[in-house]
Amino acid sequence: MYLFYTILAALSSFFVLKWMKRRRFCTDVKRLDGKTVLITGGNSGVGKETAVALALRGARVIIACRDEDRARKAIREIKARSHNMNVIFMELDLANMRSIREFCKSYLQREKRLDILINNAGVPSILNWTDDNFSMCFGVNHLGHFLLTNLLLPRLKECAPSRVITLTCSSYKYQKLDFQDLNYNLFPFLTYCRSKLANIYFTQELAHIMEGKGVTAYAVHPGYVQSNWTCHYSFLYQMFMKVITFMFFIPCEAGAQTVVYCTVADEVTAHNGGYFSDCRPAKLKPFAKDAGVAKKLWEASERLVKLA
Ligand SMILES: NC(=O)c1ccc[n+]([C@@H]2O[C@H](COP(=O)([O-])OP(=O)(O)OC[C@H]3O[C@@H](n4cnc5c(N)ncnc54)[C@H](OP(=O)(O)O)[C@@H]3O)[C@@H](O)[C@H]2O)c1
Repeated sequence: MYLFYTILAALSSFFVLKWMKRRRFCTDVKRLDGKTVLITGGNSGVGKETAVALALRGARVIIACRDEDRARKAIREIKARSHNMNVIFMELDLANMRSIREFCKSYLQREKRLDILINNAGVPSILNWTDDNFSMCFGVNHLGHFLLTNLLLPRLKECAPSRVITLTCSSYKYQKLDFQDLNYNLFPFLTYCRSKLANIYFTQELAHIMEGKGVTAYAVHPGYVQSNWTCHYSFLYQMFMKVITFMFFIPCEAGAQTVVYCTVADEVTAHNGGYFSDCRPAKLKPFAKDAGVAKKLWEASERLVKLA
């Protein structure tokens, strides 16, 4: 009897976990031949799986990463899995404004196309500072991509219809922005949540500014993914999180699906500026849809990265 209940408990846990981790896959089979896709942080996790999926559809894939060795290793894997040799690396450190400016200058000189920009790179809940003294989460996750997107907008407009997809997280809902302290760097998880809320406002305001210019924008929550984000923590915490993520988080390939969906699906343009999860539009908390806050953040970000 004891054995029966043990087996029953194990089987039920297995199916409950499987049910919790269920995800939709992108069923749109559109190809991307002749299109150029730029993915920040394309060497790891969700970014790398997105790169494989889009290379399989025939796109020219550029992965913008801060570490050349990790990028080259990822490119070998992306090419081997997609049989697409049109995958290249360009150096970009989103924690350094000069690196972003140099990257964009060289991109605009070298590359004639930019059809899809995927602002994927991100740091998790950590307390640190960028080279320009911004809190690491706000600086990399929001400000770095804000500057990058703005400097690449001319090419995106030339290649219209084009899209900007920015990775956010459903944990945006646990925080609001404090305009007196945008560089907030006190509790790691809260800095992360604020940066991911900023990604949502950024997407809304970008869609608003680009209205009628052929550039559309989407914010994507990929799900909770078994990616490489634990590498930022101590060995013991990494081991602990490996077990948790294995049990409860989804594989990277599943995490890339909503990004791929927003890249290829025609119907997403009806939700320009919207928030997506699990390959469909998702609801936002009312405070995260405040157009006034989105505009205010845009203007503050312009000042911080010295665009205004
Ligand atoms: N994993 C999740 O459960 C989850 C949930 C919600 C949202 N997200 C979001 O999904 C996105 C992808 O994350 P992931 O889960 O795939 O994590 P990941 O495996 O850790 O990948 C993050 C990528 O960002 C890059 N990166 C970090 N700092 C950078 C910098 N200063 N300059 C350039 N690139 C930098 C990393 O490069 P290195 O390899 O050089 O470190 C790596 O390629 C992030 O925006 C994250 O916030 C993830």
